[in-house]
Amino acid sequence: MDYIISKKSTNFSGTIKIPGDKSISHRALIIGSMSIGKSKITGLLESEDVFSTMTALKKLGVKIQHSNNSYIVEGLGIAGFKAPTEYIDLGNSGTGIRLLLGAIMGSNIIVNFKGDASLSKRPMQRVLKPLKLMGADILTSNKGKLPISIKSPKEALAIKYISKISSAQIKSAILLSGLSASGKTKYIEPIKSRDHTEKMLSKFGANISTKTLSNGSNLIELNGRPNLIGNDISVPSDPSSVAFPLVSAIIIPNSKIEIHNVMMNSTRNGIFETLQEMGAKIKIFNEKRVDSENTASIYAEHSRLRGIIVPSERSPRMIDEYPILSIAAACAKGNTIMNGVSELRVKESDRIKIVSDGLNKAGIKTIEKNDSLEVFGGEIEGNCTIDSELDHRIAMSFLILGLVAKNPIKVLRPSTIYTSFPNFFDIMLNLGAKLVRA
Ligand code: S3P
Repeated sequence: MDYIISKKSTNFSGTIKIPGDKSISHRALIIGSMSIGKSKITGLLESEDVFSTMTALKKLGVKIQHSNNSYIVEGLGIAGFKAPTEYIDLGNSGTGIRLLLGAIMGSNIIVNFKGDASLSKRPMQRVLKPLKLMGADILTSNKGKLPISIKSPKEALAIKYISKISSAQIKSAILLSGLSASGKTKYIEPIKSRDHTEKMLSKFGANISTKTLSNGSNLIELNGRPNLIGNDISVPSDPSSVAFPLVSAIIIPNSKIEIHNVMMNSTRNGIFETLQEMGAKIKIFNEKRVDSENTASIYAEHSRLRGIIVPSERSPRMIDEYPILSIAAACAKGNTIMNGVSELRVKESDRIKIVSDGLNKAGIKTIEKNDSLEVFGGEIEGNCTIDSELDHRIAMSFLILGLVAKNPIKVLRPSTIYTSFPNFFDIMLNLGAKLVRA
């Protein structure tokens, strides 16, 4: 698929189910691999990123089988990974590489990691620095970027690490590494980031606790060398994927949508709150508990949106949703200012720049600063071509912009969408989106 053209649509409606959460899927495979006994995962996201992690784990000696809609992982225990005989390629997956760098600690092996053009540009120093303090030997790395050759120690050293960035990937790498340490690993982040690793480690038997400190930062403490025991995991739908059809229904005239079994973790639901503040008619109902996560159903319909200021403290709770929020902002009355978003510059692409440039091409005014993006809602001309830059969320966001633009929008290299949302096209077409593949 070289490109997709998206065209003005109406009546974008239906009831849908979205695939499993990407963050939980990576963690279920990795933590299952580090446990004793079998783990059964149902609802695993079957996307390229998750398959990259699965292939990596197989190369590290883990047996993973697919049977009856589930994946069975036969864990090797903590520090049980085997030295791979070839390069491990994580493709486009930042979560895959950063979590695995931590997970192999304690296994006393040399591993050579690489990734695709997008992943090879992304900073790994943020994970390599604490892992070096925990005993890793970085044999080669191109200025803290992939490809990386790393030697993990026999046992990680327990550290106390204060991170300046709220990043679940850094946090998870350190916690997974801390599993093989004999002492207590402590990690402090400025604002709580997604907590799936903490929840899953606790479910698998680790002694792990979380506390908000007096200055608002988040402290996690993990006792090393727990007995992690294989477990069953049911993966709820990914709220980050849900955001794409949800925003489509809100901005396309005569639309209504219902989505079931959506993960409602309080570290992930900032987008729903933000859209509601903008005036979106969203109802959340049927709340349930599935494993260690909460889920709910969501209903939304076409709504008149207004511009708002999105506070920086909210960014960790919706870090992946700014591209699609910017599309909603382009359709709103007035301007929307998104503060505290500098981390977007080191995602699968520089999302502040790519979103800003793309919106300008489509006829929408923006102001781009290092740490913020302002979008002025207005007439969307369209009639432009946007390259995905190998960033799935850029591709999906601009395809959705085309559904409300006066003229079509062409998105180049859209196959990157398979990294996170394999049935995006089918779901969007069934709901009534005019998307033409070429
Ligand atoms: C993720 C953490 C976030 C997010 C990414 C998934 C995770 O990255 O953007 O898509 O599963 O831990 P950072 O940790 O870099 O913020």
